[in-house]
Amino acid sequence: MSEPEFRPGLADVPVAESAISFIDGKRARLEYRGIAVEALARESTFEETSWLLLKGALPTQRELALFDRDLKQNRSLKYRQIDILKCLPPSGHPMEALQASLAALGMFFPAKEDAWESILHLVAKTTTLVAAFHRVRHGEEALAPREDLGHAANFFYMLTGKEPSAPVARVLDACLILHAEHTMNASTFAARVVGSTQANPYSVISAAVGALSGPLHGGANEEVLEMLDEIGDHSKAKAWLEDAIATKKKIMGFGHRVYKVKDPRATVLQELAEHVFTETGRPAAYETALSLEAAANTLLGPKGIYPNVDFFSGIVYSSLGIPRDLFTPMFAMSRVVGWLSHWTEQMRHNRIFRPEQVFTGQRDQPFIPLEQRP
Ligand code: ACO
Repeated sequence: MSEPEFRPGLADVPVAESAISFIDGKRARLEYRGIAVEALARESTFEETSWLLLKGALPTQRELALFDRDLKQNRSLKYRQIDILKCLPPSGHPMEALQASLAALGMFFPAKEDAWESILHLVAKTTTLVAAFHRVRHGEEALAPREDLGHAANFFYMLTGKEPSAPVARVLDACLILHAEHTMNASTFAARVVGSTQANPYSVISAAVGALSGPLHGGANEEVLEMLDEIGDHSKAKAWLEDAIATKKKIMGFGHRVYKVKDPRATVLQELAEHVFTETGRPAAYETALSLEAAANTLLGPKGIYPNVDFFSGIVYSSLGIPRDLFTPMFAMSRVVGWLSHWTEQMRHNRIFRPEQVFTGQRDQPFIPLEQRP
């Protein structure tokens, strides 16, 4: 029998049948349950989009009202859950704190918890964990969630102690919608693999957070700002890019396994960001980003390398005063919905993942006793 073909990174290898989201990478099209993500970012809310992803169809008014109520009622953390955050090193990365605290969260709920209950806890409390860790690492008390605020606005409040203006709440809500789901990426696959073992959903989401934390995946938005700092000024963007290409540097926030045109999420986020910038002023990093994008259109465009969603998300967050190391946790706060949608789908037709390998090592080697080894 011939060896199966090995595809590094499982490129183009289907690992599941899924009805959750769809990408046409050549036409810049991303749909959640058949609906264009741009329409959702402009017209929907994170709560409504979450229901759509998790349940498969837009909610009725009553379903949405009950879901919204249930999320609000599940936002708060117990004292001991906050104490866990206080025990973590304040200098550690918030993604590590999130991964650890989500895994620990599962210990507070019954092993055979109803799946929907787990989903409510995870969607509602991930946001609270991110905000609470940020406050306790700075020696401040975690703020209790407010039931009069929507999901995104409440996050901003729990983080900063301030209520966001309507445009700021809107752009944050849209960012959550845009990051909620994205077909079979590395963290979603990690969630499916862990879920396929029938591990509890808190372990599933904790594993997915670990996968998302890497700089080639969710960690890119943080590195984009570092790159824009390094460029310094928009007038230097073209020369910097030429040098980066010559020295084979990866341009953070550019390129995508699936999109060979500009990521539709980047386009809609840019549009929403412009609204926020009328309030906060256009940050210098945005001017640099625009010059870099213009130069990249000529230099990288022919290779199908264009901005992805993370090219702009970090600029928006930092214009709102959100620290860089919270960008990826904010991505996780949103993507938890996509991961749980895939977990739900996986559990419906589950078979444990057990892929194949192409063996390249030696065989039939003798065991040489320690004293006889050279
Ligand atoms: N800058 C410069 N060159 C790039 C970039 C980039 N950002 N992305 C791809 N390329 C080049 C590669 O060097 C390679 O060139 P070669 O054929 O001459 O060797 C070619 O394009 C193919 O690149 P791969 O890395 O094989 O593409 P892959 O599909 O495996 O990777 C990835 C996609 C990881 C996103 C890549 O584009 C990248 O590292 N981008 C920067 C990090 C980033 O922004 N990640 C966020 C992704 S979006 C998200 O997770 C939400």
